[in-house]
Formats: sequence, C-alpha cells, structure tokens
Amino acid sequence: CRVRNFKFNIVMTNTTRICSSKPIVTVNGMFPGPTIHAREGDNVLVTVTNNVKDNVSIHWHGIRQLRTGWADGPAYITQCPIQTGQNYIYNFTITGQRGTLLWHAHILWLRATVHGAIVILPKSGVPYPFPKPHREVVVVLGEWWKSDTEAVINEALKSGLAPNVSDAHTINGHPGAVNSCPSQGGFTLPVQSGKTYMLRIINAALNDELFFKIAGHKLTVVEVDASYVKPFSTDTVLIAPGQTTNVLVNADQGSGKYMVATSPFMDAPIAVDNFTATATLHYSGTLANVATTLTLPPPQNATAVANQFVNSLRSLNSQKFPAQVPLTVDNSLFFTVGLGINPCPSCKAGNGSRIVADINNVTFVMPTTALLQAHFFNISGVFTTDFPGNPPNSFDYTGNPPSNLQTDSGTKVYRLKYNSTVQLVLQDTGIIAAENHPVHLHGFNFFAVGKGLGNYNPKTDPKKFNLVDPVERNTIGVPSGGWVAIRFRADNPGVWFMHCHLEVHTTWGLKMAFLVDNGKGPNQSLLPPPSDLPKC
Ligand code: C2O
Repeated sequence: CRVRNFKFNIVMTNTTRICSSKPIVTVNGMFPGPTIHAREGDNVLVTVTNNVKDNVSIHWHGIRQLRTGWADGPAYITQCPIQTGQNYIYNFTITGQRGTLLWHAHILWLRATVHGAIVILPKSGVPYPFPKPHREVVVVLGEWWKSDTEAVINEALKSGLAPNVSDAHTINGHPGAVNSCPSQGGFTLPVQSGKTYMLRIINAALNDELFFKIAGHKLTVVEVDASYVKPFSTDTVLIAPGQTTNVLVNADQGSGKYMVATSPFMDAPIAVDNFTATATLHYSGTLANVATTLTLPPPQNATAVANQFVNSLRSLNSQKFPAQVPLTVDNSLFFTVGLGINPCPSCKAGNGSRIVADINNVTFVMPTTALLQAHFFNISGVFTTDFPGNPPNSFDYTGNPPSNLQTDSGTKVYRLKYNSTVQLVLQDTGIIAAENHPVHLHGFNFFAVGKGLGNYNPKTDPKKFNLVDPVERNTIGVPSGGWVAIRFRADNPGVWFMHCHLEVHTTWGLKMAFLVDNGKGPNQSLLPPPSDLPKC
C-alpha cells in the first residue's frame, strides 16, 4: 500500500462546446477533471484549493470512507464547504474496494463541470476475475448547458417549475458530431483488431440516466459500482448518474470506424431530451474521423431495454468475492420517494404551488452547520432524529396518480445501531409523474435483493428476494411506479447522506441522512476530524 497525493486546484476555465463558450468551474482547468489512480489499500490524499468565488466540496462517490466520514464531502452533511482561498485535504484509505468510481463536486450544481474518474486497481499481483484487457479506457458521460448551470437551477427555483434540460450530452467532455455545430470533433477510441479493451464507463450527468452503445460490438459487463458481477453480454448499457459500469469490448470487426452513442432514458418523460452524444471507435489503419458504421441508441422511453439490462445484473459471488448479503434484518424500513407540489403554505420548503420532492413525506432542509460536526461535537438544534421509518401518509401506486400529497419539511435523520442490518424498500410514489429515481447511499454498498412494479407487498414480495447473488452497488434506480428493496449492514459510524442522484430532485428535497452510532469495540468509532476541516 502506498500514499497517493493529488492536487485539485479549483479554477474558472473558459471552455467551448457546441460552438459556444463560457467560463466554467473546473479542477486544474480540465473538463472532465483528472483521474484519480490508486490501488486497493492505498491512502489517498487530495489537497483541494478553492480559487473560485463559489464555495466547493468534493465527494468521492462510492468510496466507503470507513470511519472517515470527514472526507466524504457532501456540503453541510459531513463538512462545511471550502471557502474561496481555502484548502482542505481529503484523507482516506481505500478499504476492500477495487474498480471504477467517480468524484464530483457536492454543492449546488457544480457537479455539472466538476467531476472525474476514480480508478482503483486490485492490490498488486492480484488479477481481475476475467481475462486481462489489452488496454483500459475511462469513458465519462456528462451533460453540457450553454448557459450557466447555477442560473438554470436558480431560475427554476424562482419559478417553481422544472429546470431546462441540457443542450447536449458528452462523452469524455465532447458531444461529437452535432448538426448545429458541425466543426467539432468527438472523442475517439483507437483499437487494434483482435484485442480486448475495458471501458470504465461513468455517468457524471446531472439529470439523466443514459443508454450507451457501440455500433457492431457487444459489450460484456464485468463490474458495476466497483463490485464484480457475473459477466453478461449486451448491446446496450443503462447507467444512472453516479453509477459506473466496466465493460469488455472485443475488437472483433477487423477494421472500420464505429459510432459510440449515448442518449437519455426516462421511462415517463416529462420533457423531450433526446440529444445523442457520439464518439468513434476506430481500428488502427483507418483514419480517426467520423464513424461510418452507425448505431441508434434506444428511444428515450425504452423501458424494456432498461429493464432487461438491470435484470441481468448479479453479483459475481465467487469464492474470492462472496456476496455478503445480510440474511437477517434488524431494521426494516419503508421509504416512499417522489415528487410533489407542496400543499402546505406554512411549510419551509415551497409555498403551496411549487415542485418539491420528498422521502417519506419529508422534504429535507439543508442545515447551515454540517450534520457530522453537530453529531460529533454534540451541537444541538441542527437536526432531529425523528425521520419516519415508514410512510406517515397512506399511498397507492397502481398507475393512477397516487394520493400522497402532503409533505412536511425538516432536517431529520434516521438513527441506526452500529453493525445492525437494514432492509430498506424504496417505493416510487410520483405525484406529478412517476419517475425512475437513481437513489445513492453514501458510506455503504448495498445489495439490491428485490424489485417490482406497483405497490410493494410486504407479505408476498420478500419471498421472491434474491439473497444469494443480488447485485451490490451504491446507486440504484427505483423503478417508475414500482419499488426496489436493498439490504446493507450499518458498519460505518457517522452521518451518511442518501438522495436521488438526479440533481434537480436533490435540490427539491429528495434526500435524507442516516446517523450510524459508534460501536463499543476497538476501531468501531468515527475518527476525530482533521485539523483543517473547513468551518462554516
Ligand atoms: Cu454522487 Cu451524494 O453523491
């Protein structure tokens, strides 16, 4: 194991895409930002220096941060943001994880341009559980707005309506060939005939789940969210914001230029957002320009394609990588997730006419002191521990608009005993429209043991749970008008954010936090904060 040092300088960088330029917030002037390379077991130190006028914080999405919640990054949850001119060193050790993850800004909508890859190789000498690829390539999917993204969300918050969709999607920062701006190039992936490549695909988009395809080539999925899966072959990958997917691509077509395409998936689209970003896979010997073998990604509402992909995911569950699914449940929780119109004129979030979002009818209100500090230093009045473990209002999701309108607001957390096991059913109860919500849990991986459409049935559905080889991940799509059941062990003391990774829904309040108590044994407590922890 080694210590790996990185310097992240947060700066404004003038950037041109789709024939228009604007200054954006970047790390070291790059969009997407630099890749963190490390190995399992390494100690990673990232010195972040804020040289822009916005406050910033960086989240290492999917890194478990065992006992080091201070380095997790969500602003006002585990730390106060880094102010202009200040530094903070994120110091964490990568324990029991290898694969692809991502880092991103975790404040406002800065994630739009402040994101990048985390590549964790296995410990040296430890092979992959699949044939070693000839070369590995990071593929970061994203979105691009012509206007300033903070202005986009502020405008939406003012009007109470949904924000504008992005003007383009991107593959490694580039939209590829676009009619409105034909001169721009896209990302190119050079390959040699007969060799196998591993793509480490990351969805860093703010608000879109994405399909990903390569013309003429099958993709073999081997890992998601830094957890190995039973390999399976597919034409199309579905990837939600915050998720990562490693695929093997065999360059078995001999020669030519093949289109790589990504476009949004939304099973009940509220807005048309069908921009396809493209890149080119080209065989050596051909010039690296526009693809001649084309592909069309599935349409925006291709739910069947999405389901087929999601239903194919299984943990590898080998002797070396067993799926450690909790078989008993200490905390059985049921959370509704959805969007609503806040009908409560006196509520803090919304004024009775605007879109809000909630979990169990609570629209989360961001505190002004970080929850983890309030917890560690016993500062009262920052949060309450009365987050409901079950829906306070009755709900019905049978395809008709559900009747779960009332939302309350507050900074509520749900408290868990150290090392207790949790089963959490997430039920979509959209009010405006049912929508797929990619829910991300900080600090843990969980197992997706069950999933279904309509209302969850606590009597019959658990009998169908997969407790043998369910996929293990950190971000999961709650199906539109359906539910998903996850299990995890609360073995990481601290305060852990859980939220929809569609940034607009997080902004509207689709978020909450778990507070996990310290254990009694050695090495079962949250470590004390580092001395440079930013102050609010
Ligand atoms: Cu990738 Cu709380 O986020």
